Amino acid sequence: MYLTEYEQEMLDGKYGAAQAMALKVLVAVGECFGAKRLLEVSRVHVASSNQEADVWFAEKLLKLGGRCLVAPTVNPGFNVSYLSQHLSISKEDAELTERAHRAYRDLGAILTLSCTPYLEANVPRFGEILSYSETSVTIYVNSVIGARTNRESVQSSLCAAITGRVPEYGFLLDENRKGSVLVQVEADLKSDFDYQLLGSCTQKIGPGVPVFVGLPQNLSQEALINLGTQLNTTGSYAMFHIPGVTPEAPTLEAAFGGREPERVVTITDEDLQEIHRKISRPPGKIDFAMFGCPHLTFSQVQEVAQLVKGKKLAVEMWLLTSSLNKELARRTGMLEVIEEAGGHIVEDTCIDQPCWSHLKGKVGVTDSPKCAYYASMRGMNFVIRDLAACVEAALKGEVS
Ligand code: F3S
Repeated sequence: MYLTEYEQEMLDGKYGAAQAMALKVLVAVGECFGAKRLLEVSRVHVASSNQEADVWFAEKLLKLGGRCLVAPTVNPGFNVSYLSQHLSISKEDAELTERAHRAYRDLGAILTLSCTPYLEANVPRFGEILSYSETSVTIYVNSVIGARTNRESVQSSLCAAITGRVPEYGFLLDENRKGSVLVQVEADLKSDFDYQLLGSCTQKIGPGVPVFVGLPQNLSQEALINLGTQLNTTGSYAMFHIPGVTPEAPTLEAAFGGREPERVVTITDEDLQEIHRKISRPPGKIDFAMFGCPHLTFSQVQEVAQLVKGKKLAVEMWLLTSSLNKELARRTGMLEVIEEAGGHIVEDTCIDQPCWSHLKGKVGVTDSPKCAYYASMRGMNFVIRDLAACVEAALKGEVS
């Protein structure tokens, strides 16, 4: 791989052991993927986690004197101070979370602790070169914004933050960003939730870069988030196009870069119904409701507040969102409305965390198949419905 003089000096340790180690990782990744050179990276988001191995890696860079050249935003762990007041949190879990936060803070990260950095705090422009990790984030910034990132890992994105470099391969290159699968949507998508189901049809869509036709042109931000999140959660997709909606697809021809699609796939109402049946538990009694995987947008928090206003929830209800949205909910009175109903708005927190151990073996309701997927590994089971139906279920204690 070609390295500039500055990059070679960095690799040789002139700027410290942490930068040398981080660049060595990136050069190795680049060589695996046939990258010819490194590019400067302008933004980084690290799906930092409080898992032991990830904390070890961050602390190792710190001990070697590491400091981020590009300050990254970071993913949520769990909000120790808030959740300790309501749940039983083990000392070990709290300590590991605090260790992770300390390490990232000392490396120079911006502790946004949110998994929607593309909505606030780390919003890229079209064409910017990024190193973003996190399932829902990478596909959104590539597809909806037209910025460029590969599906980075916690470690590779942290190395990019330390060095300010990223190997040029994959979705940083024009030729890999073109559509390859034409997806004709014949299903009638009525709500943002239906885009969760469309994004879950990955077995039928198959590998490649899907180009969706037959969708409305006025898609909501939430529908675009849902579609991308599910594509990348169930199928490891880095990018999609919707002609007339996403910026690299002004037309169908542009979406495919003038090439013919490798496959043509049709998604019908039956496909959506079938996938819904497959990923959701059947209706019945529920013990809790969980929303915000990825973190709820402000308008979703608003929707929940309107639905519970003046009512009492029959089960626990957790709304995960960014610290900005929680503060806005406080200022607009929605936090009070939700808390009076018996619900919680929690910032800085992810569903895939040990703080939820009291929900193990219980049945919840959620509008997020991603939440159901990750939480199932922690012993939770979910009925999956749209947001309004979930809130109705939380008010009644069952999904009818
Ligand atoms: Fe966010 Fe955690 Fe879900 S990082 S997208 S709440 S798995």
